[in-house]
Amino acid sequence: MSLKSIELLALMALIMLLTAWAEQKTKNVSESDKLIYQKVEDVLSRMTFEEKIGQMSQKVVNKIDEKIKQDIRDGKIGSILVTEKSFLTASVKNELQKIAIEESRMGIPIIFGHDVINGFKTIFPISLAQSCTWDTALVKECAAIAAKEASAFGIDWTFAPMVDVSRDARWGRIAECFGEDTYLNESFCAASVKGFQGNNVADEDRLVSCLKHFVGYGNALGGRDYQYTDISDRSMYEVYLPPYKAGVDAGALTVMSAFNDINGVPATANKKLLTSVLKEKWGFPGFVVSDWDAVEQLLNHGYAADSIDAAVKSFNAGVDMEMKSGIAYQLKPDYISAKVINDAVRRLLYVKLKKGLFNKPYTDESRASREVLTAEHRQMARKTAAESMVLLENKNQTLPIKNRSLTVAVVGSFAKEQNIMGWWKSFGDEKDVITTFQGLKNNAPSKVNVVDKITTLTDIIIACVGEEFDTFGEAHSRSDINLPGNQSDWIKQLKKYGKPIVTVVFNGRPLVLTPEKENSDALLLAWHPGTEGGNALADVIYGVKNPSGKLTTSFPSHSGHIPVFYNARNSGRPQSNTYIKELPTPLYPFGYGLSYTSFSYSDLKIISSQIDINGIVKVSAKITNTGNLAGTEVVQLYVRDLVGSTTRPIKELKGFKRLYLKAGETQEVKFDLPASELAVLNQDFEPIVEKGTFKIWIAANSIEGLEGSFEIK
Ligand code: NOJ
Repeated sequence: MSLKSIELLALMALIMLLTAWAEQKTKNVSESDKLIYQKVEDVLSRMTFEEKIGQMSQKVVNKIDEKIKQDIRDGKIGSILVTEKSFLTASVKNELQKIAIEESRMGIPIIFGHDVINGFKTIFPISLAQSCTWDTALVKECAAIAAKEASAFGIDWTFAPMVDVSRDARWGRIAECFGEDTYLNESFCAASVKGFQGNNVADEDRLVSCLKHFVGYGNALGGRDYQYTDISDRSMYEVYLPPYKAGVDAGALTVMSAFNDINGVPATANKKLLTSVLKEKWGFPGFVVSDWDAVEQLLNHGYAADSIDAAVKSFNAGVDMEMKSGIAYQLKPDYISAKVINDAVRRLLYVKLKKGLFNKPYTDESRASREVLTAEHRQMARKTAAESMVLLENKNQTLPIKNRSLTVAVVGSFAKEQNIMGWWKSFGDEKDVITTFQGLKNNAPSKVNVVDKITTLTDIIIACVGEEFDTFGEAHSRSDINLPGNQSDWIKQLKKYGKPIVTVVFNGRPLVLTPEKENSDALLLAWHPGTEGGNALADVIYGVKNPSGKLTTSFPSHSGHIPVFYNARNSGRPQSNTYIKELPTPLYPFGYGLSYTSFSYSDLKIISSQIDINGIVKVSAKITNTGNLAGTEVVQLYVRDLVGSTTRPIKELKGFKRLYLKAGETQEVKFDLPASELAVLNQDFEPIVEKGTFKIWIAANSIEGLEGSFEIK
């Protein structure tokens, strides 16, 4: 056979292979995705090995110079990660994008990424606070606004939501997740993905979302960031993986591999989790980006001998894009199979096409002036911040401060603090933040005089304390989760004035507030509330908003009790699994929060107390607003599977509803709980619905509530 005919045969074989791949890939896909996959194949078939590696590389770029322009021309940059807020504007993005489109050989657009976590310019409360609203629609809307603002600056892709379930308040990044519960993280993850990506992620005001950090990062040993994680298969499948599955089902287009080592295999080289579970079992069609230098860090983990080994191991395991180090450029075609490289590039092109970057690579430069930090966005930030605040104590109805002649002293290190936007402030600016003092002064009822010092005229003290933005977040773990410094003593000292003390806490994690509970008349969690923090506090403190936030993490009574979480298992000696002289009972339990009104729960009805394994448990209760003010109550549904083929937690959240009730009003709240939601993983890790008796609660929080039972026959 001549060389020509061998080449021809090889070409035909390649075409057949590609066609087979495209057919396989396009089974059960929408018509529009079929077109995308065709385009993917067309582009891929024309790319060189070096161009493919370029697509698999993300560079941190915070200034334009000749080197970066040349790298783009050479097709070496698939994505740009922006970390400096002063750098990126739509016109800067367009300038760089133009080089990629017009001057690189393949003309593949760059995808611009940035950490848009709890807002972009308009900063919302931190994610942990947002979850305390128990309002998925609100969280979705916050993500949608963040997407609108960020995309107006040229960003295409956010590294959010973070859905690392964490039960360790020492870990600084607990601020970024949606609390200690898997079901809540699933619910908010889906909401957030839909908020960022919208119905059509290609719309100009949407962002590609990224589920992070896959997986188990929230279980860092000792709460120390990046530490080893030892996670049983049961915890992995029951606790840590489900929020990611919810995000994939909601359509998230990217996933970030985590820094941590899981049971001896680092997440960034964990083929079982990245390929077998995420890509194969769950059918995730998008791409996996490593975390910052996480590929290179395989050397520190002792999992790779050198940087080439690290790159090969990560890409073979299922990472598709390397963040920051540029390690992939060292690869040569014979180090790694074409199949692995092509799979990665297909996924990268797929996401770029889904985002519409090939059709519309540039950002409309007129958008930013109209669409960022608008009155409407600020209003939403104010509403979200107010709804995320949690009232922990309110002795003698100290709050709200009503319309009577009062002098209110707003004091403490957070009274005038502008840096209350959390660890990730994105493009948020301190000068745009309404401080507590400003908020309370500007919105004060006519007879209320707001001052910044305690004098003999003071009637009430608002003590603003908390954690500075850099005492939580990435690489900011704390071994003692009391209020930092001497703030607790300072509050105690305030008692000498003999005036009611309202302690407002600006926190990024659950704290031990044992002294504050004792020394304050009212205790209000403001978290890091964002741009509109001061106005939102005014709404709550003056009673324009009746607080409705409830905790999504348990607040321990002692740092030594960590981990504290509501859905632990019972043990064989439940009375004795405690400390010598103290109970590990949380100071404030998961699900807890007060209102200015009161609610009573009655008439629990289990409409279907016996169901089969395909049935639905229908349960209802009456909730009455027994106070004089309208208010919203977050009603929670918990179950306990009493006996099973594997043990179950003492309580598991299975639903929640926000109920707005006028003073004196009663409403019936109903939940339908399909038996399928009660499926457990048996000893072979297969999901099954097991017959038996279950307890069920309709409850105001995780430690009280109306209790009943039902049976699966
Ligand atoms: C490291 C963080 O772990 C991750 O969450 C973030 O998205 C990247 N840096 C990029 O900034």
